[in-house]
Amino acid sequence: MTRRSKKRRRATSLEDPESTPHSTSKVTNARCLLSEELLPRNSKSGLDIRFVSHYVSCSVKNRLNFAQFSKHLGASTEAIKIDKEWYNTICDVAVIENLDKAKAALSDGDISHELFTQSRSRSSVFDAVGRRTGFLNRAAIKMACLDNAFSLTSHTLRMGSFNDKIFSFVDICGGPGGFSEYLIWRIRSGGGDAKGWGVTLAGDEATNWRTQTFREESKEGLEIFNGGDQTGDIYKKMNRDDFVNQIMKATNGEGVRCAVADGGFDFTGYEKDQEMASRRIILDQSSVILRCLGKGGNFALKFFDTFHPFTLSTIYVFYQLFESLCLCKIPVSRPGNSERYLIGKNFMHSVDASVEEVRALLQRVFDEADERLSNEGDIYSDVSILSQSVVVGDSEFCEYIKHQNLRIATEQTEALREIRWYIEHPEIPARQEQMQVKRKCFGEWHLPWPDGR
Ligand SMILES: C[S@@+](CC[C@H](N)C(=O)[O-])C[C@H]1O[C@@H](n2cnc3c(N)ncnc32)[C@H](O)[C@@H]1O
Repeated sequence: MTRRSKKRRRATSLEDPESTPHSTSKVTNARCLLSEELLPRNSKSGLDIRFVSHYVSCSVKNRLNFAQFSKHLGASTEAIKIDKEWYNTICDVAVIENLDKAKAALSDGDISHELFTQSRSRSSVFDAVGRRTGFLNRAAIKMACLDNAFSLTSHTLRMGSFNDKIFSFVDICGGPGGFSEYLIWRIRSGGGDAKGWGVTLAGDEATNWRTQTFREESKEGLEIFNGGDQTGDIYKKMNRDDFVNQIMKATNGEGVRCAVADGGFDFTGYEKDQEMASRRIILDQSSVILRCLGKGGNFALKFFDTFHPFTLSTIYVFYQLFESLCLCKIPVSRPGNSERYLIGKNFMHSVDASVEEVRALLQRVFDEADERLSNEGDIYSDVSILSQSVVVGDSEFCEYIKHQNLRIATEQTEALREIRWYIEHPEIPARQEQMQVKRKCFGEWHLPWPDGR
């Protein structure tokens, strides 16, 4: 952090951010440390909380036909090459090193959990947006943000004979249920109806479904699946298969309009390995999405870092099968973490094969890869689902990924440095503009202002 920016921090008001009226000049001060596109901007018309979503679409020349797709797709233990050239193709070595340093500066054993979480909260202008919202949790507000940016609940989608009036969705690794709560509420408060199917690990009190604490409108509408073994564990092939079969049966074989998948587990202490450790959960969620999403459907899937060839080959599969993709960090997601979402619009499957053929191929390859990942105790094992050369050979795809990775990694590094600065300055209160940002987000995302907030 530069001396100039420290000075600006000290200028921040000491008043309670939840009750302070905000002047635009303070917002300007905040902005100079923050990125152009993710964070609020002060414009003539006021605070601008929108973020720019860059999409990528596979061009005709790079779109694989079914024969090529089947040839390249396959689970294997191909040796994966990760060198300077790779990192410079999909990001930039120096940017990744800076990010690692910023992460390491926060893994100092002397920083208490309490000081860390407080400093993280004080440093982000979006922090209040996810707190005391009238919804179950912060995840519900993330879904509101994603929906606003990507029209996930749009009613314009027409999908064959399955009850057209009902917005159907699947919520994978969705407990305790903020995503579902928001989706059902959004549709019902607009006069429509929604039906969701949800799966998540059963038995863990912190993450198990809490449908009874959903908003009144959302209490009914989500059918929970725990599988024959009652675990809700999507690492188990039987559970994935039964879940998909149940949905396909209920939708007359058409699949759902929207799939959301937010799987994750506690990475505390091994954040550095987060991307490798999350390969299996991302693979299994992808498998379920691709097997139960209807033609024309959209999805949102959580990723962590997107630097490893395995991650990028998974994204590449979606790139081949959807009209457009967007990899983005949303503002309400904590800026210092590696979380990001991949959004897919309009599931097209392959141009020259039926959706059933595509689904059968993906099921076989993803199941085999899952098997390999499950057998490996070593989280650094090489497992591949698509030859790395196919990804590297598509310069349009790589340029897009590089652009997004550079943006996200640079902003994350900045955010981590900010947190570090707040840790060193425990006397500095939370960002003063937090409540102004919250009001603006609730307004733009058409959320009801929570009573008494
Ligand atoms: C960040 S939480 C999801 C929050 C959720 N989107 C919401 O709106 O409340 C991550 C979830 O992944 C689930 N999960 C992790 N591993 C899983 C597995 N193997 N099978 C099913 N769910 C899993 C956890 O149980 C947890 O509910």
